[in-house]
Amino acid sequence: MSKMWSGRFSANASSLLDEFNASIMYDRELYIEDIEGSLAHASMLAKQAILTTEELKDIINGLNTVKQEIEEGTFEWNIADEDLHMGIEKRLTALIGDAGKKLHTGRSRNDQVAVDFRRWTLKKNLQIVDALKNLMHEVLVVASKHTETLIPGMTHLQHAQPTNFGFHLGAYLAMFKRDIARFEDSYKRNNISPLGCAALAGTPHNLDRDMTATLLGFDSVSTNCLDTVSDRDFALEILFNISTMMMHISRLSEELVMWSSYEFGFVELSDEYSTGSSIMPQKKNPDVPELLRGKTGRVYGSLMGLLTVMKGLPLAYNKDTQEDKEGVFDAVKTAEISLEILAEAIKTMDVKADNMEAACAVGHLAATDLADYLVEKCNIPFREAHFITGHAVAKSEELNIDLSSIDFSELKKIDARINEDVMEFLVLRNSMNARKSAGGTATIRTIEQLKFFKDFLKG
Ligand code: ARG
Repeated sequence: MSKMWSGRFSANASSLLDEFNASIMYDRELYIEDIEGSLAHASMLAKQAILTTEELKDIINGLNTVKQEIEEGTFEWNIADEDLHMGIEKRLTALIGDAGKKLHTGRSRNDQVAVDFRRWTLKKNLQIVDALKNLMHEVLVVASKHTETLIPGMTHLQHAQPTNFGFHLGAYLAMFKRDIARFEDSYKRNNISPLGCAALAGTPHNLDRDMTATLLGFDSVSTNCLDTVSDRDFALEILFNISTMMMHISRLSEELVMWSSYEFGFVELSDEYSTGSSIMPQKKNPDVPELLRGKTGRVYGSLMGLLTVMKGLPLAYNKDTQEDKEGVFDAVKTAEISLEILAEAIKTMDVKADNMEAACAVGHLAATDLADYLVEKCNIPFREAHFITGHAVAKSEELNIDLSSIDFSELKKIDARINEDVMEFLVLRNSMNARKSAGGTATIRTIEQLKFFKDFLKG
């Protein structure tokens, strides 16, 4: 079969080459962007009198037919056409004749693929932002109900200080908000048109690059064509942004896995989003958060893959670059389904507030409060206060109780400067509410934080 580029060749390409060289099996994902790019390019060529009005009309009709054929599933994707650009152009020419052959004037597949893939990626940045906002909304609904639910705050996975569950979820809201900023920022930075750069050096044809940029929704045209046709930063950025977002999702997933164990018992995932075991009838497994954790690794793989493809490529376009798409498609698909299912899992999970509060009764969560009391009320330097509190913790361990339930008399024996008002400091809820510094866990501060995220979502 003869290729569009076969003018200088005397033998046909081997079918093995076709199979190895082609991207048409997967780059068809870009068909809308490809057709829109061609429509914009053709309109501009007509305005510049490079195409006649008649030719433009034929191209528009032909491309609309191609689009319809693709959407109806009758379009023939042929591996010998190599990629969607040539597949579509070949079909267009078959449909409308000579006008189809003029469409590629002043254009190369190098700027064409850069336009298509960039616009597809830009669109996905915005769709992921919407899905992230939906996830934030579901997290906010749960968080708002639990601004007074005590939960052990941990460092090193050891009980540290009492916090509330709304505050804990607020940490993830902060992460997702940063993720949104990254996707939006990447959108703005990369919303620049490659069209008209042609193969690498621009073109002698009298193109109006501003016009195609505007038609395609770009903010401006790129500055240096050599860079433009080889630039895949937009693809790397979405991979990095998805990787970071998945890292956040993975951390939350890890907590959901722990929290749904018998040992924690802080949440129970709904039946709809849990799975069973083929052998152990009693099992209810948290496959959803486990898979979210696992899929994070797969997304990192795509990021590392493309970074490695791009390193060491001489300017400008090289065929290596064709390896840019599948990892991005896969990562975006993973991001989309992950965001959707995590939002559903959170929306439908049962929060076991009693178990969270009960877990606060061990681990001497009020120890810092005792030290703070000694500093504030007894004017004891913090290092010494820390030491005295250590004695009180040791005493509690000896008595097999939590520091929050120690008797005042025991404390008095440890240090005579301690007075009865210390007992208020050891109440766990007071301890949580004492942390009123900006961004702290106190319920009033948590409510403020959640309002900040709600306002952000309202825009
Ligand atoms: N299928 C190619 C890609 O995805 C399109 C660009 C090909 N350009 C070329 N000069 N071979 O990168």
